[in-house]
Amino acid sequence: MAADGLAVSRLTKRFLVDGRTVDAVSDVSFEVAAGEFFTMLGPSGCGKTTTLRMVAGLETPSEGAVTFRGRDLASVPARQRNIGMVFQSYALFPHLSVFENVAYGLRLRRTQAKELARAVSEVLDLLHLSEFADRMPASLSGGQQQRVSIARALVYRPDILLLDEPLANLDAKLRLHMREEIRGLQRRLGIMAIYVTHDQEEAMAISDRVAVFDRGRLIQIGAPARVYSDPTSLFVADFIGKANFIPVRVIKRDGTTADVTMPWGGLGQTNRIVAARPDEDRLIPIGSDGLLMLRPEHLALSDGAGSFAGHVKRVQFLGSTVRYAVAVDGVAGDVLVESPRAIADIREGGPCRLGYSDADAILFERPRP
Ligand SMILES: Nc1ncnc2c1ncn2[C@@H]1O[C@H](COP(=O)(O)OP(=O)(O)O)[C@@H](O)[C@H]1O
Ligand SMILES: [Mg+2]
Repeated sequence: MAADGLAVSRLTKRFLVDGRTVDAVSDVSFEVAAGEFFTMLGPSGCGKTTTLRMVAGLETPSEGAVTFRGRDLASVPARQRNIGMVFQSYALFPHLSVFENVAYGLRLRRTQAKELARAVSEVLDLLHLSEFADRMPASLSGGQQQRVSIARALVYRPDILLLDEPLANLDAKLRLHMREEIRGLQRRLGIMAIYVTHDQEEAMAISDRVAVFDRGRLIQIGAPARVYSDPTSLFVADFIGKANFIPVRVIKRDGTTADVTMPWGGLGQTNRIVAARPDEDRLIPIGSDGLLMLRPEHLALSDGAGSFAGHVKRVQFLGSTVRYAVAVDGVAGDVLVESPRAIADIREGGPCRLGYSDADAILFERPRP
Protein backbone atom coordinates (compact mmCIF):
# COMPACT_ATOMS: atom_id res chain seq x y z
CA MET A 1 0.00 0.00 0.00
CA ALA A 2 0.95 3.65 -0.25
CA ALA A 3 3.36 4.58 2.52
CA ASP A 4 1.19 7.51 3.64
CA GLY A 5 -2.08 5.59 4.00
CA LEU A 6 -3.96 3.70 6.69
CA ALA A 7 -4.21 -0.08 6.68
CA VAL A 8 -6.62 -2.17 8.69
CA SER A 9 -5.71 -5.83 8.49
CA ARG A 10 -7.68 -8.81 9.67
CA LEU A 11 -9.30 -6.80 12.42
CA THR A 12 -11.55 -8.75 14.77
CA LYS A 13 -13.36 -7.62 17.90
CA ARG A 14 -15.14 -9.97 20.27
CA PHE A 15 -17.17 -8.76 23.21
CA LEU A 16 -18.19 -10.87 26.14
CA VAL A 17 -21.87 -10.26 26.84
CA ASP A 18 -23.53 -12.21 29.70
CA GLY A 19 -20.90 -14.94 29.41
CA ARG A 20 -21.41 -15.25 25.64
CA THR A 21 -19.04 -14.09 22.93
CA VAL A 22 -20.36 -11.56 20.42
CA ASP A 23 -18.34 -11.11 17.22
CA ALA A 24 -18.82 -7.40 16.61
CA VAL A 25 -16.17 -7.26 13.87
CA SER A 26 -14.84 -10.32 12.03
CA ASP A 27 -11.65 -10.38 9.99
CA VAL A 28 -12.01 -6.95 8.41
CA SER A 29 -9.27 -5.60 6.12
CA PHE A 30 -9.10 -2.41 4.07
CA GLU A 31 -6.75 0.38 3.16
CA VAL A 32 -7.44 4.10 2.98
CA ALA A 33 -5.23 6.36 0.89
CA ALA A 34 -4.03 9.82 1.87
CA GLY A 35 -6.71 12.39 1.05
CA GLU A 36 -9.36 9.74 0.45
CA PHE A 37 -12.98 9.95 1.62
CA PHE A 38 -13.75 6.40 2.74
CA THR A 39 -17.13 5.29 4.06
CA MET A 40 -18.16 2.30 6.12
CA LEU A 41 -21.78 1.57 5.26
CA GLY A 42 -24.19 -0.99 6.67
CA PRO A 43 -27.28 -1.53 8.78
CA SER A 44 -27.30 -0.84 12.49
CA GLY A 45 -25.24 -3.31 14.52
CA CYS A 46 -22.97 -4.44 11.66
CA GLY A 47 -19.75 -3.31 13.37
CA LYS A 48 -19.05 0.11 11.83
CA THR A 49 -18.61 2.02 15.09
CA THR A 50 -16.53 -0.74 16.65
CA THR A 51 -14.20 -0.72 13.62
CA LEU A 52 -13.92 3.08 13.78
CA ARG A 53 -13.16 2.96 17.51
CA MET A 54 -10.36 0.46 16.89
CA VAL A 55 -8.85 2.83 14.32
CA ALA A 56 -9.12 5.66 16.87
CA GLY A 57 -7.54 3.56 19.60
CA LEU A 58 -10.65 3.71 21.79
CA GLU A 59 -11.12 -0.04 21.52
CA THR A 60 -8.42 -2.73 21.55
CA PRO A 61 -8.67 -5.27 18.71
CA SER A 62 -9.09 -8.93 19.68
CA GLU A 63 -7.04 -9.74 16.59
CA GLY A 64 -5.50 -7.88 13.68
CA ALA A 65 -3.69 -4.59 13.28
CA VAL A 66 -4.11 -0.94 12.38
CA THR A 67 -1.15 0.60 10.58
CA PHE A 68 -0.72 4.26 9.68
CA ARG A 69 2.12 5.47 7.46
CA GLY A 70 3.75 2.10 7.89
CA ARG A 71 3.64 2.21 11.68
CA ASP A 72 1.70 -0.33 13.77
CA LEU A 73 -0.57 1.70 16.06
CA ALA A 74 -1.06 -1.07 18.65
CA SER A 75 1.21 0.64 21.15
CA VAL A 76 0.05 4.19 20.34
CA PRO A 77 -2.63 5.39 22.78
CA ALA A 78 -5.72 7.17 21.39
CA ARG A 79 -4.65 10.71 22.34
CA GLN A 80 -1.31 10.27 20.58
CA ARG A 81 -2.80 9.08 17.30
CA ASN A 82 -3.54 12.60 16.05
CA ILE A 83 -7.00 11.58 14.92
CA GLY A 84 -10.02 13.90 15.02
CA MET A 85 -13.41 12.39 15.85
CA VAL A 86 -16.92 13.64 15.19
CA PHE A 87 -19.92 11.90 16.73
CA GLN A 88 -23.63 11.80 16.05
CA SER A 89 -24.28 13.30 19.48
CA TYR A 90 -21.88 16.27 18.91
CA ALA A 91 -20.57 15.68 22.48
CA LEU A 92 -19.94 19.39 23.09
CA PHE A 93 -19.18 20.72 26.58
CA PRO A 94 -22.38 22.56 27.55
CA HIS A 95 -20.64 24.90 30.02
CA LEU A 96 -18.00 26.09 27.53
CA SER A 97 -18.40 28.67 24.79
CA VAL A 98 -17.99 27.74 21.15
CA PHE A 99 -14.46 29.16 21.25
CA GLU A 100 -13.52 27.14 24.34
CA ASN A 101 -15.10 23.98 22.98
CA VAL A 102 -12.94 24.27 19.88
CA ALA A 103 -9.86 25.32 21.88
CA TYR A 104 -10.16 22.35 24.23
CA GLY A 105 -7.90 19.98 22.30
CA LEU A 106 -5.23 22.66 21.97
CA ARG A 107 -5.31 23.45 25.69
CA LEU A 108 -4.77 19.73 26.39
CA ARG A 109 -1.76 19.93 24.10
CA ARG A 110 -0.54 23.02 25.99
CA THR A 111 -0.55 25.14 22.88
CA GLN A 112 0.70 28.72 23.41
CA ALA A 113 -2.04 31.34 23.80
CA LYS A 114 -1.22 33.22 20.61
CA GLU A 115 -1.02 30.10 18.45
CA LEU A 116 -4.20 28.78 20.10
CA ALA A 117 -6.17 31.95 19.30
CA ARG A 118 -4.92 31.88 15.72
CA ALA A 119 -5.75 28.20 15.16
CA VAL A 120 -9.22 28.47 16.74
CA SER A 121 -10.23 31.55 14.76
CA GLU A 122 -8.93 29.97 11.56
CA VAL A 123 -11.04 26.84 11.99
CA LEU A 124 -14.10 28.83 13.17
CA ASP A 125 -13.75 30.85 10.01
CA LEU A 126 -13.48 27.70 7.92
CA LEU A 127 -16.76 26.43 9.34
CA HIS A 128 -18.56 29.80 9.19
CA LEU A 129 -18.75 29.98 12.97
CA SER A 130 -16.75 33.13 13.73
CA GLU A 131 -19.77 35.14 14.78
CA PHE A 132 -20.78 32.44 17.28
CA ALA A 133 -17.43 32.23 19.08
CA ASP A 134 -18.80 33.53 22.40
CA ARG A 135 -22.11 31.69 22.30
CA MET A 136 -22.91 28.64 24.43
CA PRO A 137 -23.73 25.38 22.57
CA ALA A 138 -27.33 25.29 23.83
CA SER A 139 -28.08 28.54 21.98
CA LEU A 140 -27.08 27.06 18.61
CA SER A 141 -29.09 25.04 16.10
CA GLY A 142 -28.33 21.35 15.57
CA GLY A 143 -26.43 22.07 12.38
CA GLN A 144 -24.33 24.77 14.05
CA GLN A 145 -23.56 22.47 16.97
CA GLN A 146 -22.43 19.79 14.56
CA ARG A 147 -20.18 22.33 12.84
CA VAL A 148 -18.63 23.17 16.21
CA SER A 149 -17.91 19.49 16.79
CA ILE A 150 -16.23 19.32 13.35
CA ALA A 151 -14.21 22.47 14.12
CA ARG A 152 -13.13 20.92 17.41
CA ALA A 153 -11.96 17.77 15.62
CA LEU A 154 -10.04 19.74 12.97
CA VAL A 155 -8.38 22.41 15.12
CA TYR A 156 -5.24 20.47 15.93
CA ARG A 157 -4.76 19.45 12.31
CA PRO A 158 -5.34 15.73 12.67
CA ASP A 159 -3.93 13.28 10.15
CA ILE A 160 -7.27 11.47 9.93
CA LEU A 161 -10.83 12.67 10.47
CA LEU A 162 -13.25 10.03 11.74
CA LEU A 163 -16.97 10.76 11.53
CA ASP A 164 -19.54 8.43 13.09
CA GLU A 165 -23.04 9.10 11.73
CA PRO A 166 -22.46 12.84 12.14
CA LEU A 167 -25.68 13.86 10.39
CA ALA A 168 -28.11 11.40 11.94
CA ASN A 169 -29.63 13.98 14.31
CA LEU A 170 -30.26 16.64 11.67
CA ASP A 171 -33.40 17.12 9.63
CA ALA A 172 -33.44 15.90 6.02
CA LYS A 173 -32.71 19.21 4.34
CA LEU A 174 -29.86 20.14 6.65
CA ARG A 175 -28.43 16.64 6.24
CA LEU A 176 -28.10 17.19 2.49
CA HIS A 177 -26.47 20.59 3.03
CA MET A 178 -24.06 19.41 5.73
CA ARG A 179 -22.88 16.39 3.78
CA GLU A 180 -21.85 18.66 0.92
CA GLU A 181 -20.14 20.95 3.40
CA ILE A 182 -18.23 18.07 5.01
CA ARG A 183 -17.18 16.71 1.63
CA GLY A 184 -16.10 20.17 0.41
CA LEU A 185 -14.10 20.80 3.56
CA GLN A 186 -12.41 17.41 3.36
CA ARG A 187 -11.44 18.09 -0.26
CA ARG A 188 -10.05 21.55 0.47
CA LEU A 189 -8.03 20.31 3.43
CA GLY A 190 -6.96 17.17 1.58
CA ILE A 191 -7.45 15.24 4.82
CA MET A 192 -8.11 11.50 5.00
CA ALA A 193 -11.67 10.93 6.18
CA ILE A 194 -13.31 7.75 7.41
CA TYR A 195 -17.05 8.18 7.57
CA VAL A 196 -19.69 5.90 9.06
CA THR A 197 -23.32 5.83 7.99
CA HIS A 198 -26.26 3.46 7.58
CA ASP A 199 -27.66 5.70 4.82
CA GLN A 200 -26.69 4.25 1.45
CA GLU A 201 -27.62 7.36 -0.49
CA GLU A 202 -25.48 9.54 1.74
CA ALA A 203 -22.57 7.12 1.38
CA MET A 204 -22.85 7.06 -2.40
CA ALA A 205 -23.10 10.83 -2.65
CA ILE A 206 -19.97 11.79 -0.75
CA SER A 207 -17.48 8.92 -0.83
CA ASP A 208 -14.51 8.08 -2.99
CA ARG A 209 -14.99 4.48 -1.90
CA VAL A 210 -17.58 2.62 0.12
CA ALA A 211 -17.10 -0.48 2.26
CA VAL A 212 -20.35 -2.36 2.80
CA PHE A 213 -20.62 -4.25 6.10
CA ASP A 214 -23.01 -7.02 7.08
CA ARG A 215 -22.99 -8.68 10.49
CA GLY A 216 -19.44 -7.74 11.37
CA ARG A 217 -17.96 -8.55 8.00
CA LEU A 218 -16.81 -6.32 5.18
CA ILE A 219 -18.51 -7.82 2.15
CA GLN A 220 -17.81 -5.42 -0.70
CA ILE A 221 -15.58 -2.45 -1.23
CA GLY A 222 -15.38 -0.09 -4.19
CA ALA A 223 -16.31 3.21 -5.78
CA PRO A 224 -20.02 4.03 -5.32
CA ALA A 225 -20.85 3.61 -9.00
CA ARG A 226 -19.15 0.23 -9.08
CA VAL A 227 -20.85 -1.10 -5.98
CA TYR A 228 -24.20 0.06 -7.36
CA SER A 229 -23.76 -1.41 -10.82
CA ASP A 230 -21.95 -4.59 -9.87
CA PRO A 231 -23.02 -5.84 -6.45
CA THR A 232 -21.28 -9.12 -5.72
CA SER A 233 -23.90 -10.41 -3.29
CA LEU A 234 -27.63 -10.37 -2.85
CA PHE A 235 -27.18 -8.38 0.37
CA VAL A 236 -25.37 -5.53 -1.38
CA ALA A 237 -27.76 -5.63 -4.34
CA ASP A 238 -30.66 -5.22 -1.95
CA PHE A 239 -29.04 -2.70 0.43
CA ILE A 240 -27.70 -0.27 -2.19
CA GLY A 241 -30.31 1.50 -4.26
CA LYS A 242 -33.61 -0.01 -5.35
CA ALA A 243 -33.72 -3.40 -6.99
CA ASN A 244 -36.28 -5.89 -8.30
CA PHE A 245 -35.63 -9.57 -7.77
CA ILE A 246 -37.33 -11.86 -10.26
CA PRO A 247 -37.36 -15.57 -9.36
CA VAL A 248 -35.97 -17.69 -12.20
CA ARG A 249 -34.59 -21.15 -12.87
CA VAL A 250 -31.18 -21.59 -14.43
CA ILE A 251 -31.41 -23.94 -17.40
CA LYS A 252 -28.13 -23.43 -19.22
CA ARG A 253 -24.83 -21.81 -18.60
CA ASP A 254 -22.26 -20.75 -21.12
CA GLY A 255 -19.19 -18.93 -19.88
CA THR A 256 -20.36 -15.82 -18.16
CA THR A 257 -23.92 -15.86 -19.44
CA ALA A 258 -26.79 -18.00 -18.29
CA ASP A 259 -30.14 -18.94 -19.74
CA VAL A 260 -33.00 -18.79 -17.35
CA THR A 261 -36.70 -19.43 -17.46
CA MET A 262 -39.36 -17.84 -15.43
CA PRO A 263 -41.02 -21.06 -14.31
CA TRP A 264 -44.12 -19.25 -13.13
CA GLY A 265 -44.61 -18.29 -16.75
CA GLY A 266 -45.44 -14.60 -16.56
CA LEU A 267 -48.97 -14.94 -18.00
CA GLY A 268 -48.45 -18.45 -19.20
CA GLN A 269 -45.36 -18.32 -21.34
CA THR A 270 -42.31 -20.35 -20.53
CA ASN A 271 -39.99 -18.61 -22.90
CA ARG A 272 -36.32 -18.85 -22.44
CA ILE A 273 -34.64 -15.63 -21.48
CA VAL A 274 -30.97 -15.11 -21.97
CA ALA A 275 -29.69 -13.22 -19.02
CA ALA A 276 -27.03 -12.31 -16.56
CA ARG A 277 -23.33 -12.27 -16.23
CA PRO A 278 -22.61 -14.26 -13.13
CA ASP A 279 -19.11 -13.84 -11.74
CA GLU A 280 -16.89 -16.87 -11.71
CA ASP A 281 -17.19 -17.06 -7.95
CA ARG A 282 -20.95 -17.04 -7.93
CA LEU A 283 -21.68 -19.44 -10.78
CA ILE A 284 -25.02 -20.97 -10.14
CA PRO A 285 -25.62 -24.66 -10.85
CA ILE A 286 -27.90 -25.63 -13.73
CA GLY A 287 -31.36 -26.52 -12.53
CA SER A 288 -31.12 -24.38 -9.44
CA ASP A 289 -33.26 -21.43 -8.47
CA GLY A 290 -31.92 -17.94 -9.04
CA LEU A 291 -32.94 -14.36 -8.57
CA LEU A 292 -32.57 -11.98 -11.47
CA MET A 293 -31.73 -8.52 -10.22
CA LEU A 294 -33.04 -5.63 -12.31
CA ARG A 295 -32.81 -1.98 -11.26
CA PRO A 296 -36.05 0.00 -11.81
CA GLU A 297 -34.31 2.23 -14.37
CA HIS A 298 -33.24 -0.84 -16.35
CA LEU A 299 -36.77 -2.09 -16.94
CA ALA A 300 -38.72 -0.69 -19.85
CA LEU A 301 -42.46 -0.88 -20.25
CA SER A 302 -42.36 -2.31 -23.75
CA ASP A 303 -41.68 -5.53 -25.58
CA GLY A 304 -37.99 -6.08 -25.13
CA ALA A 305 -35.68 -8.95 -25.98
CA GLY A 306 -36.20 -10.50 -22.59
CA SER A 307 -39.69 -9.54 -21.66
CA PHE A 308 -42.49 -10.69 -19.47
CA ALA A 309 -46.02 -9.69 -18.74
CA GLY A 310 -47.45 -7.69 -15.87
CA HIS A 311 -50.30 -5.55 -14.68
CA VAL A 312 -49.87 -1.86 -13.82
CA LYS A 313 -50.99 -1.28 -10.24
CA ARG A 314 -49.92 2.28 -9.71
CA VAL A 315 -48.36 5.18 -11.60
CA GLN A 316 -46.57 7.77 -9.48
CA PHE A 317 -45.20 11.06 -10.76
CA LEU A 318 -42.07 11.83 -8.75
CA GLY A 319 -41.04 14.98 -10.56
CA SER A 320 -37.86 13.99 -12.34
CA THR A 321 -39.09 10.43 -12.95
CA VAL A 322 -42.28 8.43 -13.23
CA ARG A 323 -42.49 5.26 -11.16
CA TYR A 324 -44.66 2.32 -12.17
CA ALA A 325 -45.56 -0.39 -9.67
CA VAL A 326 -46.28 -3.54 -11.65
CA ALA A 327 -47.78 -6.80 -10.43
CA VAL A 328 -46.17 -9.83 -12.06
CA ASP A 329 -47.45 -13.37 -11.53
CA GLY A 330 -45.01 -15.37 -9.46
CA VAL A 331 -43.16 -12.34 -8.10
CA ALA A 332 -43.81 -11.33 -4.51
CA GLY A 333 -44.32 -7.60 -4.12
CA ASP A 334 -44.47 -4.99 -6.85
CA VAL A 335 -41.91 -4.81 -9.62
CA LEU A 336 -40.79 -1.18 -9.82
CA VAL A 337 -40.05 0.50 -13.12
CA GLU A 338 -38.65 3.99 -13.29
CA SER A 339 -38.85 6.03 -16.44
CA PRO A 340 -37.69 9.59 -17.13
CA ARG A 341 -41.12 10.39 -18.54
CA ALA A 342 -44.64 9.01 -18.69
CA ILE A 343 -45.10 6.22 -21.24
CA ALA A 344 -47.99 6.46 -23.69
CA ASP A 345 -50.78 3.88 -23.36
CA ILE A 346 -49.59 2.65 -19.95
CA ARG A 347 -52.33 3.22 -17.41
CA GLU A 348 -53.16 2.17 -13.92
CA GLY A 349 -55.14 -1.08 -14.04
CA GLY A 350 -53.97 -1.95 -17.54
CA PRO A 351 -51.68 -4.71 -18.82
CA CYS A 352 -48.05 -4.16 -19.80
CA ARG A 353 -44.89 -5.97 -20.79
CA LEU A 354 -41.58 -5.44 -19.08
CA GLY A 355 -38.43 -5.61 -21.15
CA TYR A 356 -34.82 -5.47 -20.14
CA SER A 357 -31.45 -5.87 -21.71
CA ASP A 358 -29.29 -8.84 -20.74
CA ALA A 359 -26.33 -6.65 -19.90
CA ASP A 360 -28.27 -4.98 -17.09
CA ALA A 361 -29.39 -8.17 -15.38
CA ILE A 362 -27.40 -9.81 -12.63
CA LEU A 363 -28.10 -13.36 -11.55
CA PHE A 364 -27.83 -14.41 -7.91
CA GLU A 365 -28.38 -17.74 -6.29
CA ARG A 366 -31.66 -17.82 -4.48
CA PRO A 367 -31.15 -18.24 -0.74
CA ARG A 368 -32.90 -21.26 0.73
CA PRO A 369 -35.68 -20.26 3.09
N1 LIG B 1 -19.07 -2.49 24.33
C1 LIG B 1 -19.80 -3.48 23.80
N2 LIG B 1 -20.12 -4.58 24.50
C2 LIG B 1 -20.82 -5.57 23.96
N3 LIG B 1 -21.29 -5.60 22.69
C3 LIG B 1 -21.01 -4.53 21.94
C4 LIG B 1 -20.26 -3.41 22.43
N4 LIG B 1 -20.13 -2.50 21.43
C5 LIG B 1 -20.78 -3.02 20.38
N5 LIG B 1 -21.30 -4.23 20.67
C6 LIG B 1 -22.04 -5.09 19.74
O1 LIG B 1 -21.27 -5.24 18.58
C7 LIG B 1 -22.09 -5.20 17.42
C8 LIG B 1 -21.62 -4.08 16.49
O2 LIG B 1 -21.90 -2.84 17.10
P1 LIG B 1 -21.51 -1.45 16.43
O3 LIG B 1 -20.09 -1.49 16.04
O4 LIG B 1 -21.92 -0.39 17.38
O5 LIG B 1 -22.43 -1.45 15.14
P2 LIG B 1 -22.86 -0.23 14.17
O6 LIG B 1 -22.02 0.96 14.51
O7 LIG B 1 -22.63 -0.75 12.80
O8 LIG B 1 -24.31 0.00 14.43
C9 LIG B 1 -23.51 -5.06 17.91
O9 LIG B 1 -24.08 -6.35 17.99
C10 LIG B 1 -23.34 -4.46 19.27
O10 LIG B 1 -24.41 -4.78 20.10
MG1 LIG C 1 -22.66 2.88 15.13
